Amino acid sequence: MEISLQNVADIKKLKAVGICTIKGIQMTTRRALCNVKGLSEAKVDKIKEAANKLVEPGFLTAFEYSEKRKMVFHISTGSQEFDKLLGGGIESMAITEAFGEFRTGKTQLSHTLCVTAQLPGPNGYTGGKIIFIDTENTFRPDRLRDIADRFNVDHEAVLDNVLYARAYTSEHQMELLDYVAAKFHEEAGIFKLLIIDSIMALFRVDFSGRGELAERQQKLAQMLSRLQKISEEYNVAVFVTNQMTADPGATMTFQADPKKPIGGHILAHASTTRISLRKGRGELRIAKIYDSPEMPENEATFAITTGGIGDAKE
Ligand SMILES: Nc1ncnc2c1ncn2[C@@H]1O[C@H](COP(=O)(O)OP(=O)(O)O)[C@@H](O)[C@H]1O
Ligand SMILES: [Mg+2]
Repeated sequence: MEISLQNVADIKKLKAVGICTIKGIQMTTRRALCNVKGLSEAKVDKIKEAANKLVEPGFLTAFEYSEKRKMVFHISTGSQEFDKLLGGGIESMAITEAFGEFRTGKTQLSHTLCVTAQLPGPNGYTGGKIIFIDTENTFRPDRLRDIADRFNVDHEAVLDNVLYARAYTSEHQMELLDYVAAKFHEEAGIFKLLIIDSIMALFRVDFSGRGELAERQQKLAQMLSRLQKISEEYNVAVFVTNQMTADPGATMTFQADPKKPIGGHILAHASTTRISLRKGRGELRIAKIYDSPEMPENEATFAITTGGIGDAKE
């Protein structure tokens, strides 16, 4: 974008809201660009035009698209069974959502991914850095140390590769994504994973009444669309956790567990892969594919150990 786009001041304005690449401009609507402070409609038109001149918007052949898909990598959950369920682990260029009740292992899985994402993996995956957005104040660097021990990696190196932010409001959570995009752009190819644990907690607090539901869903949709773009533009895996709530609509049916993930259709459609987690005996947990474009609806049992997520021992 540095090449011919307008002037430095405009580029700065775009960067301030996390739009750092030509692709980023193409992925943002005119209306959203007009809302950027200091950009007039005329200027936005010029920026769009310049961007489209530099990079053809639009079509790829299926072959070209399949070449692009070859860059997709998977990050191990720490459990082979669980990885198998996911076709190799948490996928890049996609949003993976894990939902479940309290203590089903969502936060432990988030911590484990912070370490496994740094380890080299199959198909030439080299490992990389992670950004962790914590909305529930449950991030514990000490857990990363325990998990690092299990994989025989250096504590300091592991902690150095995880950028951490605590979000305090849903607005703050959104603002942090500007920083995330800027960081991913600045250190291109270095970051491999973005974690939000959990995606809905602050929305639940900030929009509490029935009357605020529509606004909440609209804001949530904007955030998820942002996450989707970030995952594709920078080829990173986005992993979000989600809570559950009683489903009032299910009381009339014979559902065994009348609970459902929150976030409604907006989140359901935005997540590429949805995993439901539930408790098993002791430290055992069961993961189930809830919705995926390419994986069948299957289950896997895993364990929560001192060293993070692992396989259930026979
Ligand atoms: N250091 C540890 N060693 C083994 N198990 C742990 C450790 N820390 C937490 N756990 C287990 O992880 C579970 C909590 O999982 P967590 O990921 O926090 O749940 P969620 O985020 O879904 O509410 C608890 O059952 C707890 O026993
Ligand atoms: Mg948690």
